[in-house]
Order: sequence, then structure tokens, then C-alpha cells
Amino acid sequence: MAFLHVPRPWQLPESQATSEAAFYNRRRFLKTLAGASLAGAALPLLGCQKQLTADDSPLVGTRPLSVERNPVFAQVERETTNELLAATYNNYYEFGSSKAIWRNAQALPTEDWKVEVTGLVNQPRTYDLDDLTRAFPLEERLYRFRCVEAWAMVVPWVGFPMNALIQAVEPTSKAKFVRFTSYFDRAVTKGPTFPPSQFLPFPYTEGLRIEEMANDLAFFAVGIYGHTLPKQHGAPIRAVIPWKYGFKGAKSIVKIEFTETQPATFWNTLSPNEYKFEANVEPDVPHPRWSQAKERLIGPGSQFDWQEVPTIKYNGYGEFVASLYA
Ligand code: MTE
Repeated sequence: MAFLHVPRPWQLPESQATSEAAFYNRRRFLKTLAGASLAGAALPLLGCQKQLTADDSPLVGTRPLSVERNPVFAQVERETTNELLAATYNNYYEFGSSKAIWRNAQALPTEDWKVEVTGLVNQPRTYDLDDLTRAFPLEERLYRFRCVEAWAMVVPWVGFPMNALIQAVEPTSKAKFVRFTSYFDRAVTKGPTFPPSQFLPFPYTEGLRIEEMANDLAFFAVGIYGHTLPKQHGAPIRAVIPWKYGFKGAKSIVKIEFTETQPATFWNTLSPNEYKFEANVEPDVPHPRWSQAKERLIGPGSQFDWQEVPTIKYNGYGEFVASLYA
């Protein structure tokens, strides 16, 4: 995300992402995927599957997840983004402020992951990943993805609706908001050198109104493109709220807390005028420093290879969410 008005030298390493994506050529990519789907067919849980990618791949450490695509979210009128492009063009400030952070993100320790669900709920609980996938059936959904920076992708996520978790933990009548907290350990997630990480309000947090969380579209992703999440996408579990700007989707979640009042969140704390708590995709509401009327649909080949298309209100999901804002 852009803090300052003029040249952003810390974004220069983005050029590396393109050369890396070009290096992991299409043939190798298809081979990886073919192997992944065969091997994954009979192995439903996240923990006990064989890793299928090499250490030098942006998909390192991922395991196949073979699940059905939800027919309601089976298609988008735009082309699905090239997987290696999506895996090498990321925002994950804990690991730096350029888009080319996938190698840095490999430092994230994802073993024995726990997600604490706490706050105003009748059934507080700490889940490990297998608990989550046993409790909540996984499905695949193809969603449009829109970053506040005005780039966009189309991504197939694997996960489960947030509403399923709401049902399981039973928020009390006082619960009006939810807050997601991402993993943070300053020794591991060093953060960017510019802007210096100690000035950023880590851990990364994001939040929703509880009615937004209960909307059918709000999703916890544990996978992408038919396998577990690569670390740079927010392994092992992240939020995806497709009618809002991408920054609402906290990565690598360790805590989900139900609260009575609107929680403080990372970007909103840094710059409330630029990054609203609500943050719905709205073409007519410009960011203070740029228009949101159009977006750059990234791909097919590299990040420099994009198509400019009109931004759609609620990112095209008005039929599901407009009533929340009536
Ligand atoms: N979550 C954490 N913990 N840290 C981040 O820096 N960046 C956000 C969001 N979630 C971010 C985060 C932003 S600005 C975007 S656009 C998306 O992640 C990018 O997701 P992707 O890299 O998987 O495409």
C-alpha cells in the first residue's frame, strides 16, 4: 500500500517478481498442478498430505486440496489470474513493502497453527487446522479480488464461509463486530525497512461488522488454486471479503475476537482518511490520492501486462451485499 505521495523506492524490487514468474514457466507450472490434483484426491485433511513443490518455487510447501467448486461462485466473466503471477505479486507488510516478498514470507512458521476464537461468544475455542477442516466442509469459490491500490485479480480460493464459524461459536447478543489478528513476532516477521517497521501498528488487524461477517460471501481461505495457501498468500488461514478492498482480508490469522465496539485496525489506525473501516469497493468514491473508477486487471503474463477495466460497485457482488448498506 502506498503511504507517500511520490517515488516509492521500496517498490523497485517488484521487477524481480516478473523475472521469477517468467522463470517458473508454464510447463513446470502445469506439471506441478497435475501432480498435485492426482495426489490430493483421496486426502482431505490439511496436515497429512505430501508436499509436491520444490524449495525454489513460489508454491513451496503447499499441499493439494481436492474439493468441489461451489456452483454459485463457479464463474467470473474475467479470466482467472495466472497462479504464479498471483503468488509473486503480494502485499504482506510483515515481510516487506514490495510486492516481491514471497521468499521473505517463507520464514513464517506455520507448523502447529492455532486459531483462538474469543471475546463475546458462548463457545470460545482454540482450533488447530485439522479441527477447522473437520468442523467446516471446504469448498472452492472463484472470486474477483480488488486491492485499494487499483489492481485486481480473479482467484479460486478454497475454504469455508465465515458464517459457519459464527454458528459454531455462538456470539452473544452484545457482539457487534469481529476483529482478526495476523501472526506477528518481530524476530520472524521483520517488516519493511522503509517505511520502518517500528512505526507500523503491528500485529496486522482487520475487522467487520458481525452482519458483514455473517454474509454468505465472507470467507476463510485455507487454500488457493487447488492447494493449501503458500505462505505469501497468508498461510495457513486468511480472510477473503470479496466486495471490500483487499486490505480487509487479514492473512495468517491467529485470533478471531468478537467485540461490542468497532475494533482498531492496521490501515485505519495508520491513515483513517485513506483506509476506511468499511472499505467497500466503490468506483464513485475516490481514494484521497487516486481515482477508484477503473482498475488494472493484472496478467496474463506479468504484472506489467494488464488490462484497464471499469471498477464495479461492491466488486460485482451487489446482489449479495447491497442490502447490508441500504
Ligand atoms: N494481511 C497481513 N497480515 N498483512 C498485510 O500486509 N495486506 C493486505 C491483505 N492482507 C496484508 C494482509 C492487502 S493490502 C492486500 S491487497 C491483500 O492482503 C493481498 O493479498 P494477496 O497478496 O494474497 O493477493
